[in-house]
Amino acid sequence: MIKVLFVCLGNICRSPMAEAIFRDLVQKEGLSDRIQVDSAGTGDWHIGHPPHKGTQTILTKYNISFEGIKARQVMPEDLGQFDYIIAMDSDNLGNLQKMITGEKTGRIQRLLDYVDDSKVADVPDPYYTGNFDEVYELVTNGCKRLLEVIKKENLVGKE
Ligand code: 4NP
Repeated sequence: MIKVLFVCLGNICRSPMAEAIFRDLVQKEGLSDRIQVDSAGTGDWHIGHPPHKGTQTILTKYNISFEGIKARQVMPEDLGQFDYIIAMDSDNLGNLQKMITGEKTGRIQRLLDYVDDSKVADVPDPYYTGNFDEVYELVTNGCKRLLEVIKKENLVGKE
């Protein structure tokens, strides 16, 4: 099983949106038995909460399920258990890198590092900007590119 973890600050806006969008892409490609998806936040304020209303609204608009998605905090053990750890912005990336204990860790990168021609490196935080449409576009594009990379690295020629 290939394990993918999306990480943001609160785990209620960006990373649950990424989890839902990526899970939808994986399902549509018939890869749910090969790729497992989760999300978490570096902060602990929203543990147990469902996605933010803005994230719920945009996912509903695009007919993407967020069923079962609830906020949790990222733990040091996650870094060893997931193969691809995907930070939404540079702050999240820095916080994750500080959690590394020196043991085996998955690859930690920002989502938009997977988008070669991206104009921005960070997914802006809609908790502060209120712009969930912009985040949806960036996250969808990033998730599509990430899935292509994961398929190339793990699945092509190994069906
Ligand atoms: P997220 O947005 O990291 O995309 O989930 C935030 C959600 C909550 C807070 C900050 C950012 N907060 O400070 O509660």
